[in-house]
Amino acid sequence: MRIGVLNGPNLNLLGTREPTVYGTTTLAQIDAELQAIAREIDVELVSVQKNGEGELIDVLHGWQHSVQGILVNAGAYTHTSLALRDALSGIAIPFVEVHLSNIYAREPERRHSMLASAAVGMITGLGAAGYGLALRGLVARLRAA
Ligand code: DQA
Repeated sequence: MRIGVLNGPNLNLLGTREPTVYGTTTLAQIDAELQAIAREIDVELVSVQKNGEGELIDVLHGWQHSVQGILVNAGAYTHTSLALRDALSGIAIPFVEVHLSNIYAREPERRHSMLASAAVGMITGLGAAGYGLALRGLVARLRAA
């Protein structure tokens, strides 16, 4: 089984970006931890970060026939991008939405996700550890299907 991990805008800055909100773990460290979990649970992982909305959509289209599940942290596009939800729905691959911060405990404009209605589930507010939990949860769900 192959899982895609897609991180959106500004998540390349993790580690130094607003550490009181997002923590000090870098995206490379998150990816390394995800690779370790992937080996443990015997899945293959491909991880991509892009800052542009169109670039993220292109990655999703490219995954249509090559991954069976997706973890996505769309960053601020979470709150605005119907196009990303359409891309996720269009490729029809189950996905789990991940956020480092608890988007429901933040500013009003972050409390709505455009993606959530199409997601298998969401992990929000558990910091970097949320990615690993999301991976385990998604794979368990896919294996049970
Ligand atoms: C985020 C939350 C978003 O509101 C924000 O724009 C991000 C990161 C998170 O992981 O907590 O870039 O998705």
